[in-house]
Amino acid sequence: MKFFIDTGNLAQIKEASELGILDGVTTNPSLMAKEGVKGEAAIAQHYKAICEIVDGDISAEVLSTDFESMVEEGKKLAAIHPNIVVKVPMIKDGIKAIKWFTDNGIRTNCTLIFSAGQAILAAKAGATYVSPFIGRIDDSGWDGIELIRQMRLIFDIQGYKTEILAASIRNALHIIKCAEAGADVCTCPLDSILGLLKHPLTDIGLAKFLEDAKKM
Ligand code: G3P
Repeated sequence: MKFFIDTGNLAQIKEASELGILDGVTTNPSLMAKEGVKGEAAIAQHYKAICEIVDGDISAEVLSTDFESMVEEGKKLAAIHPNIVVKVPMIKDGIKAIKWFTDNGIRTNCTLIFSAGQAILAAKAGATYVSPFIGRIDDSGWDGIELIRQMRLIFDIQGYKTEILAASIRNALHIIKCAEAGADVCTCPLDSILGLLKHPLTDIGLAKFLEDAKKM
């Protein structure tokens, strides 16, 4: 399973990248706004800066919702850097845009996926990635991980090449469960990635080893 970081924060992207296990970055308008990135030039500059830190796929989301505007916007985003993947919302025009991008050699990430039916449509349109929102599904009283399992089963039976990119990750357990359910990629906040490091017995064990090392 590939590890992406789900943030627009350059310091956090650098920190995750320095771990040596980072394969890519996903952003969305909420995450970009949080960093105070405003205006077309600043947005493009920010994506460029991310591409300079991480040598992997970087999802950049379109802000429009009609086919023509999404295509124009996506072309501009894709021109920023070869690693840019155009993120498109799961709406009717979004599916049309994904098909257009697929036919024109531009890679896509279909976002805001909450059902297997939506995932099938995105895969049929040729999306490079589909992003089911695990945490938000859990918040609404459904089982996000179960959707990953169902998508894995369907994609394998149907031979879809689209990669399942688990998003809206809230903790380390989500990452473990996504790996178990067969997600191709997990995009996580830095805290959840660092959460994988932690176990109290590791801390206790290391403290004892360091104490005993003084006697060596
Ligand atoms: O990038 C989209 C997704 O990961 C959002 O996560 O925590 O806002 O539900 P969250």
